[in-house]
Amino acid sequence: MSWELAGASLKLIMAGMEPTKDAPLARLGWWRVGGPADLLVTVKDEQQLAAVMETDLPITVLGNGSNLLVADEGIRGIVVRLRGNFRALAFRDPSSPDGLSDSLDGPAGIAVVGAGMSNAMLLSKLDRLGVAGAGCLAGVPGTMGGAIRMNAGTRMGEIGDRVAFVRVMMPNGKTQNLTPDSINFRYRRATLPEGAIVTRVGLWVTKANHAEEAALRTEHLEYRQNSQPLDQPSCGSTFKNPPGDAAGRLIDAAGLKGTAIGGAQISEKHANFFINTGSATASDLHALIKLARDTVQEQFGITLEPEVHAVGDWPDGMWPL
Ligand code: EPU
Repeated sequence: MSWELAGASLKLIMAGMEPTKDAPLARLGWWRVGGPADLLVTVKDEQQLAAVMETDLPITVLGNGSNLLVADEGIRGIVVRLRGNFRALAFRDPSSPDGLSDSLDGPAGIAVVGAGMSNAMLLSKLDRLGVAGAGCLAGVPGTMGGAIRMNAGTRMGEIGDRVAFVRVMMPNGKTQNLTPDSINFRYRRATLPEGAIVTRVGLWVTKANHAEEAALRTEHLEYRQNSQPLDQPSCGSTFKNPPGDAAGRLIDAAGLKGTAIGGAQISEKHANFFINTGSATASDLHALIKLARDTVQEQFGITLEPEVHAVGDWPDGMWPL
């Protein structure tokens, strides 16, 4: 291990963390591919995250690993998982704007959600409290931080439309609250300051239409169950939908369903889902993603943009596609 990594590791230990060297990441990602992280560390609060920032090594936040394509060579620097306080949920009522409480007392307010909370966990907690507002995340894998970073959504809407504020930590370890306007949410896109890590999110929530939202979610989950290969390792949608069309429709129309490279295959069930059939490498997936992009480009003149994010130590020239 280089002296830089050894120094960083020591700093993290002094701040109460337990970094793992050369930590395998494939088991943590949804595609089950990719090499190791130089250092993998779990952080439990903003103080620990600030200590990670202080190391000056490159930082990658893993979230749930549900939308990341990790390179076969792995990720240099520190890979962070947000746990502890980053998985907390509290509520802020308009009547008591400074205090946080465990439940939403009035009819509407702000849910304050830790960036490491999974979307599924958030929805289940809100359900128990009879609170609506995050229904657009039904069936979307990943964490709140990841949902913000890419303005996650479904046909039920986009999370950006529900955001009251986003708290981030900057590379200098300082935190700031961003307004939704400054983040400029667009379809599967959000503009965050360079190097910022989302730590906490405020979402507008209400008790008014919980039953309706829950019913719509059930309907939507059934639709997904029937149209998407949810039982196989994938990263959900591989490409963003181009304006006015659907990536799945285009890849299907190009005749690519079932096409395989190595252990990576375009799903027979939904053409925008790329599956690891068991032995896929990150390079196999890259090659298949490129093949789909190039074929759709040739046949229809439409350039698909990946929704998945490639991270880590890729050979030069592989990304962008
Ligand atoms: N289609 C085909 N062939 C296919 C797949 C789809 O012709 O193999 C057609 C469908 O018939 C439909 C159109 O393409 O007319 C769109 O397909 P679908 O309704 O399945 O939705 P999608 O646009 O592919 C989006 C989100 C999904 C979300 C679903 C349902 C994007 C990129 N994807 O998929 O989100 O679950 O709507 O709300 O916006 C994700 O982002 O990871 C994700 C899974």
